[in-house]
Amino acid sequence: MSKTNPEKNAYRYEILARQITQLIEQGTYRPGERIPSVRQMSKQQAVSISSVMQAYLILENEGLIEARPQSGYYVRPTSEIKLPEPDISTPSLDPSHVNLHDLVMMIMNDSSNPRLAQLGAAMPNLELLPTDRMNRIMSRLARKADKGTHQYHFTPGLEELRVQIAQRTVNSGCQLSPNDIVITSGGTEAINLCLHAVCKPGDIVAIESPMYFGTLQIIEVHGLRALEIPTNPRDGISLGALQFAIEHNPIKAVLTISNFSNPTGSCIPDEKKKDLVELLARYDIPLIDNDVSGEIFFTEKRPMVTKAFDQNGLVMLCSSFSKDIGPSLRVGWVAPGRYKTEVEWLKFTLSAATATLPQMAIAEFLESGGYDHHLRRLRREYARNVAQLYDAVTRTFPPGTRVTRPSGGYVLWVQLPENVDSLELYSLALQGGITLTPGYLFSPTNQFYNFIRLNAAAWSYPIMGALDRLGDMIVELAGRGKA
Ligand SMILES: Cc1ncc(COP(=O)(O)O)c(C=O)c1O
Repeated sequence: MSKTNPEKNAYRYEILARQITQLIEQGTYRPGERIPSVRQMSKQQAVSISSVMQAYLILENEGLIEARPQSGYYVRPTSEIKLPEPDISTPSLDPSHVNLHDLVMMIMNDSSNPRLAQLGAAMPNLELLPTDRMNRIMSRLARKADKGTHQYHFTPGLEELRVQIAQRTVNSGCQLSPNDIVITSGGTEAINLCLHAVCKPGDIVAIESPMYFGTLQIIEVHGLRALEIPTNPRDGISLGALQFAIEHNPIKAVLTISNFSNPTGSCIPDEKKKDLVELLARYDIPLIDNDVSGEIFFTEKRPMVTKAFDQNGLVMLCSSFSKDIGPSLRVGWVAPGRYKTEVEWLKFTLSAATATLPQMAIAEFLESGGYDHHLRRLRREYARNVAQLYDAVTRTFPPGTRVTRPSGGYVLWVQLPENVDSLELYSLALQGGITLTPGYLFSPTNQFYNFIRLNAAAWSYPIMGALDRLGDMIVELAGRGKA
């Protein structure tokens, strides 16, 4: 792995983050005070803007500083630094089959029950999505639609939409042409197609640990084996561990959610993304990177995507509009690099085409500029809701709890005291009218029995009440057996 500062064996942004931490600890920068802006710090320390951004991101995730819109970065008041984050995961060194479908389907069933307080499923907040706008666009398009609109739009999908997507990806560091993109029925289909294109049953895929259970289900359905790689809830997959795994196993693909992972919210810093892509290029292994939450960032700048560093066509970048425009539209996409022919063929055999009207509506929404305006509000609201949920967890959950501080997305990953089993909690919560997502779902080898994932997309009095009740249940379970 190439580090930018070999003497100290650490990245520049890590060194800078450590220096600022020291300055905070020794009282040079005091709680509530503004620290130098990204630009000032970059000049002061003679490092790049992106290194300063990464350092600030680390400090934000550690809860040491906070970004205040239009104002800058501030040292958080010490009383607000409450709970540590979960440590890097330590999964087994062996690949394993996935067998989670019964549990997943049971929990998915509860997640669509309107009588339950939904603290689990990572569904977006419909109040914050541009549903009225999309309805208006779709009604107008439907009224003026000619017969041609109702014809198949075979793979690679609607050209107008692919043009819009290619233009947007420039913000994340890519130079894609519309011809590099294949429209899919949601991000789920995109990942399905990628795995199908590069693996056959029995093959080993390396995954972040924990990994979104929908992806684990795709691995299960394709009869693949998952090799879980230690992953830090802050800056993602361990490259050292990944390299070790590659040297000891015939890995056929690597799966990451490099920007705002579900469930940890981890974000791989841009310099490390480059190293990840270069590492896999050395071994000629494809990287399937899922960027469904990439637009939901709380920092100043959108993080880049791994595809931006792809010189060899090995990165298969997947995304969708489910989290930020509407999950029911079922529109996603993939830039499959050198695997485009296989992906297009598989798309044709699996579903022939993606529904046309939603593609047209999204293309129009993007072209109008409405998407950027909407995203700015969505990011603000999600950042606030995540902070509210974080505060509620720190207030109501017992000592021994650890929780992530994501800088994007809208889920929190909570590590409960060791004697709390998340499935036992799940049953208890269900009786009390609450659902959550137990940690069991995120690992084929039960790495996370005492973790839960909470959805922070919406914040309301009923949700606050449900969280208080959940906190009481956890306190009760954690206290069991103690005199
Ligand atoms: C990380 C991740 N990938 C993919 C999906 C599914 O995306 P889509 O609804 O576009 O199929 C989800 C939905 O929760 C997700 O969290």
